[in-house]
Amino acid sequence: MKLLVISGSHRKNSQTAKVAKYINNNKNSFAESKHIDLCELDLPFWDAMSDYKADSPVWHDVAAQINEADALILMTPEWAGTASPLIKNLLLMSDLADTAHKPVMLVGTSSGISGAYPVAELRMNALKNTKLIPVPDYLIVRYIDQVLNMEQAVDEHDESLRQRISYCLEMLNSYAQAMLPVRAQFKAQHQQLQSKYAYGM
Ligand SMILES: Cc1cc2nc3c(=O)[nH]c(=O)nc-3n(C[C@H](O)[C@H](O)[C@H](O)COP(=O)(O)O)c2cc1C
Repeated sequence: MKLLVISGSHRKNSQTAKVAKYINNNKNSFAESKHIDLCELDLPFWDAMSDYKADSPVWHDVAAQINEADALILMTPEWAGTASPLIKNLLLMSDLADTAHKPVMLVGTSSGISGAYPVAELRMNALKNTKLIPVPDYLIVRYIDQVLNMEQAVDEHDESLRQRISYCLEMLNSYAQAMLPVRAQFKAQHQQLQSKYAYGM
């Protein structure tokens, strides 16, 4: 199974990207893992009225990586109680054929005690047209500055996060395998039946 970890901070060398790199390097039973740090890319801004994606090689590369993945992890810092614009932009840009019926684990990060809002936001209203499937397990990385900084965990909070990440990756892998026949059926029907109901309600 192939994993794609996408971190959505707007800040280079962000704390969110730090956690994404940890996950990418500790992929558990995933055969492959890749990490995209959205702030490193010059992606176009979503525009419903034009063919804005066609001339963007950066977008074509990102779309190809999403297409190849069997499971995604979407990570966003909580900023002013909301998910990052870069992660929302990515979801708006994504094509159904690349995303449909793939499991996604959502991750919110916070320098303090928060981080739940962006997970709730993405779960509720950011996935409809992608048909990505948010798995039940999710991560909220609190006090993010204090974790995953060293090779070994430095305290109980750091250790429990590492163990939860490992568990979540195992579950995500199970969902990725379970969804293979559903994705095959989607591909077979996409041009006819599926495209008629592409946008949900
Ligand atoms: C402009 C700004 C607004 C923020 N708002 C919140 C917030 O509403 N809730 C919260 O828990 N943390 C907030 N934070 C802290 C970030 O969540 C924390 O820095 C983040 O998890 C790590 O950001 P990074 O990945 O860009 O380094 C804010 C940070 C910035 C810079």
